[in-house]
Amino acid sequence: MKKTILIIGGGPAGYVSAIRAAQLGADVTLVEKHKNLGGTCLNVGCVPSKALLQYSYYVHLLKHEFSNLGIDASLNRIDFSRMQEKKGEIVSGLTQGIAFLLKKNKIRHIRGEAKFVAEKKIEVDGEILTADYILLATGSKPIELPFFPIDEDRVLSSTGALALKNIPNHLIVIGAGVIGLEMGSVYRSLGSRVTYIEFFDRIAPSFDEDVSKTLMEIMKQRGIEFHLQTKVIKGELINGVVQLSCEGQDKNIFQIEGDYVLQSIGRKPNTQGLAPQKGGIRLDAKGFIETGSDLQTSVKGVYAIGDVAFGPMLAHKASHEGIALVETLLGKPSSYNLFEVPNVIYTHPEVAHVGMNEAELKANQLPYKVGKFPFKANARGLVEHDEKGFVKVYVCKSSDRLMGAVVVCSHASEMLAMFQLAIKEKLKIQDLKHLMIAHPTLSEALIEAILDSDNQSIHF
Ligand code: FAD
Ligand code: NAI
Repeated sequence: MKKTILIIGGGPAGYVSAIRAAQLGADVTLVEKHKNLGGTCLNVGCVPSKALLQYSYYVHLLKHEFSNLGIDASLNRIDFSRMQEKKGEIVSGLTQGIAFLLKKNKIRHIRGEAKFVAEKKIEVDGEILTADYILLATGSKPIELPFFPIDEDRVLSSTGALALKNIPNHLIVIGAGVIGLEMGSVYRSLGSRVTYIEFFDRIAPSFDEDVSKTLMEIMKQRGIEFHLQTKVIKGELINGVVQLSCEGQDKNIFQIEGDYVLQSIGRKPNTQGLAPQKGGIRLDAKGFIETGSDLQTSVKGVYAIGDVAFGPMLAHKASHEGIALVETLLGKPSSYNLFEVPNVIYTHPEVAHVGMNEAELKANQLPYKVGKFPFKANARGLVEHDEKGFVKVYVCKSSDRLMGAVVVCSHASEMLAMFQLAIKEKLKIQDLKHLMIAHPTLSEALIEAILDSDNQSIHF
């Protein structure tokens, strides 16, 4: 007898689980309320933000880098609507691709909002659905300042910031975390004045301190302004002008004005419309769906995956969690490890991290040694203008295994896989030291950092 699986939400957690479950022979139904599949990631997250980061970076190169190389090119005009159109073409191609994949895998796709009406019973537009297994994958939404609601016109979340029709004159960004840093980079490259207001004493606070410092230095050189240890205490929109009152480091109050403000102060789980309580589904204090380590909720046979469940809010975490879950449910024991989830900021330079950071190693009292290698000592790093970037590795002193790594350079996101494999397969550093990397590449710095953990770096 075929197992039946009902999945609520068509983002990376939901649609990927649906395809894997269908491949394993289950009878799968997927409910998505939005007209497009792909969730936050494809429609208003990962994909459109990376498109704008790439297109705006071309403008940055043209304005600031080409002349250093003797390339005499002038920028006459930016047709921002064309950039937005191209971004839209990529997004719609990909979302249509998912619809095709669902069809190909014979997955029933229902468009509508799902809500619990009883335990293991879900209603969508009058139809009552149930299944052997129900997977809740309803994602997340932006947190907004309680005293300054987002209108997506001048007071933006990432969704509004990705859809602007005009390039801001002055964009104020509240929160210098991942979204803030990526969107601020986009608009700075396009010529906006960009000012950050950050609560913490450094930007990208979930990364190592030297990463925050390096990234901030580079962004400052690009003319970006920062107010750290600062909180917004009042926000108003007066005649199209955003006016913020802020309390700075030394408790001084100052005002700041811009034509747009982006609130990027984190995201929260989304269970709006789902009526989880009617289905007996318990939420934790922050609104995440409570699960055990097997991802099962308070109701047997109902599971939660992706942003709405515990763990980092990342697309690859969402889809891997979903794959591991459906494989296990359908008799193919499988797992994934939160420790192996990579984390990337796609600014220029990019920051890519996997495993533990220094604060976590210290908190866990693990004996570790550090290897670090700067791209100023790597030929390709100089060509790519990555002189300020570096690779850093943490190696466990007792096991000689890689515990964590971070890369700061133009292609960091594409270079992390080797470290991920080393962590996943528990490789010893001795196994990596003699890996022959093509020359000249940025990846040579990965091995140099590993060598440096034993003071054996060749080029530094
Ligand atoms: P979502 O993608 O949020 O999907 C949930 C889906 O459920 C939505 O389509 C929603 O419409 C649907 N839904 C909700 N309630 C119901 C209901 N009751 N009935 C039916 N359908 C419902 N992550 C990365 O890994 N890399 C990145 O580069 C990256 N960039 C990002 C950039 C931005 C600006 C943002 C906002 C996020 C970014 N993320 C990135 C995070 C990533 O988008 C999320 O982690 C990922 O989308 C989570 O997937 P999910 O399937 O859990 O949820
Ligand atoms: P975040 O948690 O990354 O950063 C929020 C920042 O806002 C922090 O630096 C925090 O100190 C600051 N902050 C919080 N409250 C504040 C306040 N009142 N005033 C000033 N600063 C304040 O959250 P963000 O950037 O909104 O992103 C949400 C999530 O989306 C990320 O954690 C990530 O999981 C996901 N994402 C991932 C991306 C990627 O993988 N490249 C890109 C974009 C989003």
